[in-house]
Amino acid sequence: MSAKKIQIALLYNDDSQVRNVNPQDLLAVQSTVTTTHQLCKALVGLGYSTVKIAVRNSLEELAQTLRGYSLADTLIFNNCDGFDGSNQAAAKIIHLIEDMHFLHTGASAEAAELCIDKPRAKERLLARNIPTPRCQVFEHPGEEYCLGFPAIVKPSVEDGSMGITLNSVVSTPEQLEKQVRMVLDTYAEPALVEEFIPGRELAVAMLGNEKIQVLPIAEDDYSLIKNPLERLLTYESKWESASPYYNIIPSRIPADLTPAEEKAIHSAAEGTFRAMGLRDFGRVDIRFDNGIPYVIDVNELPDLAPDAGFWHSAQAAGMTYPQMVDKIVKHALQREGWTP
Ligand SMILES: Nc1ncnc2c1ncn2[C@@H]1O[C@H](COP(=O)(O)OP(=O)(O)O)[C@@H](O)[C@H]1O
Ligand SMILES: [Mg+2]
Repeated sequence: MSAKKIQIALLYNDDSQVRNVNPQDLLAVQSTVTTTHQLCKALVGLGYSTVKIAVRNSLEELAQTLRGYSLADTLIFNNCDGFDGSNQAAAKIIHLIEDMHFLHTGASAEAAELCIDKPRAKERLLARNIPTPRCQVFEHPGEEYCLGFPAIVKPSVEDGSMGITLNSVVSTPEQLEKQVRMVLDTYAEPALVEEFIPGRELAVAMLGNEKIQVLPIAEDDYSLIKNPLERLLTYESKWESASPYYNIIPSRIPADLTPAEEKAIHSAAEGTFRAMGLRDFGRVDIRFDNGIPYVIDVNELPDLAPDAGFWHSAQAAGMTYPQMVDKIVKHALQREGWTP
């Protein structure tokens, strides 16, 4: 099948009417819709016959819609990062796509499930000898904490820095308990407590499958923030333009690294890509401290917005936005043997 003969079904979650999302997390959720418009524009500009399919009400409704498409020539470009306020539902959507035997871009349902569940992802990394901060998972607020301070308390299955504020960095057992309680109450999921790694923050975007193209490394530059415990990407620093933290963490691409440092970071990022079973593209977030690249987050579906990190790294590698989108499509097609 030639690449241009395929039909692309651009799948995304339109959570504008969501019932279960926390109101403070709405900005991140809504950005999926705007990004999808940009992806669609790029795909149409590339000459692909493209339809947008919003996942809105139920997975049954999605299945019904997909039944109208032919397995023989449809590639699903998957931009669903959740559904109805649940991040894990992103993997359920991929399960449905796979059960219906559609080809799709990006991680398999199994890999997505693994990446979305941060404690499980960390277990996999450790099993592959990839550094990741030491951690403890709290299912109840009163459990004894056995690691060091400062620590960071995160929801275990969110992304986009949801649930992460300056209060997430804790230095005493009392602060820790309060923050663990907040995560359990607000997100109804276990709290992941990790040792806080004070080093530089790097994001490594990658494209490919058997052969991985590592794009120029991005660094979130915290030099304007004096307190080391405030050097992190909180929800407000990522999404709220009125926040004092929104504009003071510039992204630098490429990060200023020695060849040896770059080598260590590439190795951790590529090792993570393979360990987690990522496909076509992905982004690995790292805190780099004392020469050790600690993997803190694996993004099987990184934000593809034209103002987000993945695109900035692709741009630094010399790609236009449509070229980046086309590479994702082509990697998926080649992986499935759909192109000569
Ligand atoms: N162990 C850690 N040490 C220091 N900072 C961290 C650590 N874990 C997370 N952070 C900070 O919190 C941000 C969000 O955490 P992350 O695990 O990437 O969650 P998300 O999936 O929501 O992006 C990171 O970009 C980083 O700035
Ligand atoms: Mg992250």
